[in-house]
Amino acid sequence: MNPIKTATVNGVATIEIARPEKKNALTMAMYAAMADAITAARADSAVRALLITGQPGVFTSGNDLEDFMQRPPSGPDSAVFQFMNALADCDKPVVAAVTGAAVGIGTTMLLHCDLVYVSDEARLALPFVSLGLVPEFGSSLLLPLLMGPARAAEKLLLGDPFGPQEAVDCGIANAVLPAGEVVPHARRMAERFNLLPPEAVRETKRLMRKARGAALAQARDDENLVFGQRLRSPEAREAFTAFFEKRRPDFTKF
Ligand code: COA
Repeated sequence: MNPIKTATVNGVATIEIARPEKKNALTMAMYAAMADAITAARADSAVRALLITGQPGVFTSGNDLEDFMQRPPSGPDSAVFQFMNALADCDKPVVAAVTGAAVGIGTTMLLHCDLVYVSDEARLALPFVSLGLVPEFGSSLLLPLLMGPARAAEKLLLGDPFGPQEAVDCGIANAVLPAGEVVPHARRMAERFNLLPPEAVRETKRLMRKARGAALAQARDDENLVFGQRLRSPEAREAFTAFFEKRRPDFTKF
């Protein structure tokens, strides 16, 4: 069974990541299911907003590293690209309920959502460099724009994790909620779009994103090219192997 659960209730299409035994790590099959769910929600006139959420204590630990090693994404046709493109291009509002750890693409995807609510237990991280990789899907552009280059460098170059209040302070998230309230709150915010004129909402979202559009597309392309090369690098292999061997990676030999 695919651990992506979808349901449309009261105008809100929910995409729930449900693979708690692997900390909601995302496989290519899961990305494909999420891309399909976004496409279906866009096409369904009963849907006024989307809600992406995880499990108590974990939003997602990011790309499934084993899947990554065995089936590295090969380009724009791969499921991870399809998911991120569907999310970035979604013309309906997307709300995220960050129920816990949001690692790698778990944080990157928040930069492409419209409203983000984080649990007081959430921890965000973009540990691409320590995995031998580079940022993805425009985050090397969006993060410095949001929080300034110095704070972005802590997150992207050093890979320092950060807490929910900092996510709000640096403009990634709207509010911190007690763990048990983050999903209901995010859902209530998503349901507010039922009372608003959908075309005006879509046009406003489009206009808000237009200014950064060309630069973002360029950053996305540049990053994705390098990301694909880095995935096959000896540095990444050492980092991934160390994760599964539950040891610290040794980068002194590079
Ligand atoms: N890919 C594949 N498996 C993953 C995973 C990932 N991204 N994240 C966690 N898992 C697996 C672990 O290997 C472990 O599997 P096992 O029980 O078979 O040994 C299980 O999920 C539980 O993970 P664990 O690390 O023991 O949980 P934790 O609560 O101590 O830590 C995290 C949670 C999210 C902080 C930690 O799992 C983590 O850092 N994961 C990797 C994050 C990452 O680097 N993501 C990729 C970004 S590109």
